[in-house]
Order: sequence, then C-alpha cells, then structure tokens
Amino acid sequence: MGARPKLLITRRIFPEVLERLDANFDIVSNQADDEWSAADLLARVADRDALFVVASDRVDRALLDAAPKLRVVSTGSVGYNHIDLAACKARGIAVGNTPEVLTEATADMAWTLLMAAARRVSESERWLRDGQWKRWAFDQFLGADLFRSTLGIIGMGRIGSAVARRARGFEMTVLYSNRSRAANEAEVGAQYVERDELLARADHVVLVLPYSQATHHTIGERELSLMKPTATLVNIARGGIVDDAALARALKAGRIAAAGLDVYENEPALNPELLDAPGVVLTPHIGSATRSSRVGMAMLAADNLIAFFEGRPMPAQVPLG
Ligand code: DGY
Repeated sequence: MGARPKLLITRRIFPEVLERLDANFDIVSNQADDEWSAADLLARVADRDALFVVASDRVDRALLDAAPKLRVVSTGSVGYNHIDLAACKARGIAVGNTPEVLTEATADMAWTLLMAAARRVSESERWLRDGQWKRWAFDQFLGADLFRSTLGIIGMGRIGSAVARRARGFEMTVLYSNRSRAANEAEVGAQYVERDELLARADHVVLVLPYSQATHHTIGERELSLMKPTATLVNIARGGIVDDAALARALKAGRIAAAGLDVYENEPALNPELLDAPGVVLTPHIGSATRSSRVGMAMLAADNLIAFFEGRPMPAQVPLG
C-alpha cells in the first residue's frame, strides 16, 4: 500500500467523521479546537496534500503558498467565499463544499429569527429576566404580524426556496428577488420583483444570498430607507451582505422595527452598536446547527476528500470557472 495522503483538519469534528477519515488519511487534526494563529496554520499545512477547513478559515494566497503539495481543499460549509477560488484554480487545487445537507436546518433558523425578532422575543425575555414584569398591559411588546403578511426573500436558491415553502402555512404573500428568475417560483409560491420593490412592499425581508464582492452591502443605508418602519430584516446568509453599522443606525432611529441576525461583518467580533440596538435578535452563526445537519456537513466534506483521492468525482465540487 502506498503512503496515505496527508490531511490537515483545522477544527474539532465529530468522532464518526474523524474515524472515516482516519481510515483513509494520515491526519493532523485540531481535535482540541485550539485557537491557531495564522502562522500556526501556515506551519501545519506545509507538508499536507489535503485540507479540511470551515467557513471562518481563510484559504488565501499566503496559505496556498505555504502548502506546495496541496491538491484539494474541502470546506465544511456550503459557502466558499473564504476560499480564493482563482488562486486554487491557478494551482490546480480542487475545492469541495457541503450543499443540500444544511438547507432545511438553515431555513428553520431563518424562521426562528424572523419570528423571534418580529414578536420581540429576546427583548421581552431580557426585560422579564431583569425583574421588570410587574403587570400585564395591552400595549406591552407589540410586535408585527406574520400571518397573511408579505415576506420578501432576497436570494432564491435552495435555502431561499425552503424558506418560501414554509411561508405557505402562514398564508403569506411571498416576493423574491434574485440574479435571475427562479425556475421553481410557481412551485414555491413566490413572485419575482425588483429588489427595491421587494424592500418597499415586504413586511419581513430574509437574506439568503451568497457573499461575494458583488453582494457586499446589498443592504445598506439606501436599502434600509426603502423598507417599512414596521419591517423585520433577517440575515441568515453571510456577514458583509448587510452594512451592520447602517443597520444599527436604522434600528436606533426606528427606520425599521426589528432584525434577526446570525452572521456579522467581522464575526466573531460584533459591531457594538448592534448590541444595544432595539428589536434585535442575535445568534452566533448557528444557522445550520442541528446535529443531523452539522454531522451531514462534516461527513460530506470528508466524502469529498475521500472521493478526490480515489479518483472519483467529488460529491460536491465547487466549479472554479
Ligand atoms: C455555511 O455552510 O456556509 C454556513 O454558514 C456554516 O458555515
């Protein structure tokens, strides 16, 4: 038997996934989940043939330069904006990701954030825990209706479609905007409109589009000013799609009512203005965090690596253009 390919895994992964990889690779793994500096990572990747990363690892030219033997990068995420695809292509390095397995869990989380933000769940719970609940009042914590309201979805891919399907139960009008018309718009019951029209008409706006330079600050000052003062904004997509500073200003000025955020511009650092903005529900990038979804992601990332070295098509290979 020839030497097994050398694999670096940057994060703790589930034992069953590690076991599967262990049968195929010579592994260095960060099972202790230590904070590796950029220099640590560069040193560890030097002799590796394969790399298993997550969305918060940057796979840039500096890292690729430090990894002359690298042949494949597998990310345990559907998003791949943290990977320099052009640099991978130039070096003949294949890239794999994890679509499908997280679609439903992430759509559930979009709804979790939407409902929690629209109905002021975090805000009222903080108030209650603070001992401020002395009596019931008609006008306490009035939120926005979901039933028969208008939902605007920006980005109608797999997750956007799954969000739209769930809106049927709420008898919502569903608008969407996307780079192109979605072939499944009738099936998911969504109507295509231009983005500005969506922002003006929707009671609730959910962002589910991939991050790229083209989608940077899709929602900024101008877009927020088009939204209804009673509107809710949910970002389940990627930090950077929303201008966090502009959003905090809009919430504080009452230009929109609420926001449910799972992703941030400089995560894990948060814009401090978001922390004391009213009507905001904040979660730490847990959109796909159910056991079945996260194990599915890690297993698919492992399967991509195994298929690559067995000379089979990777189950989920990112096109490098
Ligand atoms: C993804 O898969 O891209 C999620 O954001 C988790 O990183």
